Amino acid sequence: MSADVTLTGVGVGPGDPELLTVKAVRLLREADLVFVPVMADRVAPTVTAGATPPGADGRAEATVRSHVAAERLRRLPFALDDRGGVTARRAAAWDDAARVVVEAIDAGARSLAFATIGDPNVYSTFGYLAQSVRALRPGVRVATVPGVTAMQELAARSGTPLCEGREPLTLLPATAGLALFADAVAGPGTVVAYKGWRRHPELLAELRRQGRLADAVLGRSLGLPGERIGPVDDTEHDLPYLSTLLVPARREHRGGKL
Ligand SMILES: C[S@@+](CC[C@H](N)C(=O)[O-])C[C@H]1O[C@@H](n2cnc3c(N)ncnc32)[C@H](O)[C@@H]1O
Repeated sequence: MSADVTLTGVGVGPGDPELLTVKAVRLLREADLVFVPVMADRVAPTVTAGATPPGADGRAEATVRSHVAAERLRRLPFALDDRGGVTARRAAAWDDAARVVVEAIDAGARSLAFATIGDPNVYSTFGYLAQSVRALRPGVRVATVPGVTAMQELAARSGTPLCEGREPLTLLPATAGLALFADAVAGPGTVVAYKGWRRHPELLAELRRQGRLADAVLGRSLGLPGERIGPVDDTEHDLPYLSTLLVPARREHRGGKL
């Protein structure tokens, strides 16, 4: 029954509408329906021609608006919850979102896209949604289209090569605890911390302890109104959720890490 149905997680990049791949644009244009995540309790599920939800809430929606007509867009409410584990709120949001997708399939939609910021395989809700949909409709095919990550955009905009020669590259969520961040910063490669907003003061304290504060680059709201990219201001701790911290590898001279 659902064997000819495909649910595709489409990476739409960090914010700049030019940072979508040609394939992502095609998929979004061809899909019967395009779902976009929004924060639960804050916006109506239907999309009208009016404004998108502000800030992180409507990021994917604002990015795909120029490629997808409002009639084919559907909002899926999710919970922005940075506590660990599968909280009841989170699980309920995944289940509710999956039911909305399944209702669309039962109503005849065959090609469904889920637009997600950055890349769908990098800290995206898409994986949880896909699992929840397949639990209800095991025949649904799941696919992804890669997107430009916030990490890559921050590297590009700040002119920071992410890795050279034998250097490792560590991408971690600040929610995983300070020890992981401290170990990575003490290591030989570049470290990128996502989800640092509420934990920003702790991250800065660790950078100060290791004498790396001056090296770090902070990207806030990349590709969004209010975007700011630059060195870390030690006194400013009130960050938007969409903030990324990059600590470049120590490099002495050209090709030194080969
Ligand atoms: C749930 S993760 C999503 C990551 C995304 N899938 C990617 O591939 O980049 C959310 C985190 O990504 C980072 N992020 C995503 N978009 C961003 C943007 N436009 N500006 C700054 N950071 C961003 C922030 O660290 C944020 O807390």
